Amino acid sequence: MKETSTTNINVELLDRSYNILIAAGLLKNCVNEITRVISPHCRKIVIVSNKKIFTLYGNIPSQNLKKLGYQPLHFLIGDGEKYKTLATAEKLFTFLIEQRLERRDALIALGGGVVGDLTGFVAATYLRGIDYIQIPTSLLAQIDAAIGGKTAVNHKKGKNLIGAFHQPKLVIVDPNVLITLPKRELVAAIYEVIKYGVIADEKLFYLLEKEKNNILARNIELLTEIIISCCKAKAGIVSRDEHESGERQILNFGHTIGHALETITNYKHFKHGEAVGYGMIAATLISNQLNLINDEQTRKIISLVKGYSKLPSVKGISLETLLEIMRQDKKSLAGQLTFVLPEQIGRVIIGQRVPINVVHQVLQTL
Ligand code: GLY
Repeated sequence: MKETSTTNINVELLDRSYNILIAAGLLKNCVNEITRVISPHCRKIVIVSNKKIFTLYGNIPSQNLKKLGYQPLHFLIGDGEKYKTLATAEKLFTFLIEQRLERRDALIALGGGVVGDLTGFVAATYLRGIDYIQIPTSLLAQIDAAIGGKTAVNHKKGKNLIGAFHQPKLVIVDPNVLITLPKRELVAAIYEVIKYGVIADEKLFYLLEKEKNNILARNIELLTEIIISCCKAKAGIVSRDEHESGERQILNFGHTIGHALETITNYKHFKHGEAVGYGMIAATLISNQLNLINDEQTRKIISLVKGYSKLPSVKGISLETLLEIMRQDKKSLAGQLTFVLPEQIGRVIIGQRVPINVVHQVLQTL
């Protein structure tokens, strides 16, 4: 397994500031870093994970915590979005109460976005808030979900409807764990990496173009470089706009149509990143229709998205129903939908109102 030196990125949020530590091989040596950020009176640390991830990666941090005199416990949840619910959170609350966790104690989220969001939500609300640490094990969580303090569980009427902003005390990213990530999840996360390229980082965009094959072959140095670029971008955005009143909205590029595609297919047909892939293609075409981005840049964005892998088919999805879902969205206003649109690679505008007939026209071409 590769080992690289550690990159430290700070999310600056006054007294809630924290570091994102990134290095191949970090998981083996992260316990000292964890003990530095939690309460000196902490005794119990619960690692929340799922069976597959805990079996692969849970033992070392758990044993190392024990050696340092902590009482490590673990709580495993089911694998997949359908477990990100209040019912699972309630089971975790019960476990924490039974194990008598106190306010000085802490949780560790070891897993992908589902584990991270749910653990963060429970940490935000148990005893009115306890510390938690993110150890993301999927590429999507490493570049996005684990950073920024958005925690949530789903409600049957919609995704992430119940949640809180609660920042972690530390994020530990070890790119070596991506070796065991299923290929489809890796590729789906790459669409979100492309998103960072389009919204904020032209250099990253061209790296993704040039190194496609090496990235798909999971070259750890390249994956590390990509993760560092995304985490730097996200840390900056979150530091400037923690509660998404402005700039943080740029992270929603590709999400207006992406979310509608996930909803219409009941979250079963697309991985989140794949739906965002379609959403980015559509938003770029819309921007081009409105003369906000030129033809050459439009072509480059679309071919990068399409070039990484074949997106799942949209055959059979009703355009009318899709538009209806978007109309019901809180961002819809008087026959117009709100989009994040690219102006050029590395720069987007937020809050752009687009007439529904333009969206309709573009979606028809997909
Ligand atoms: N995942 C989008 C955000 O953190 O704002």
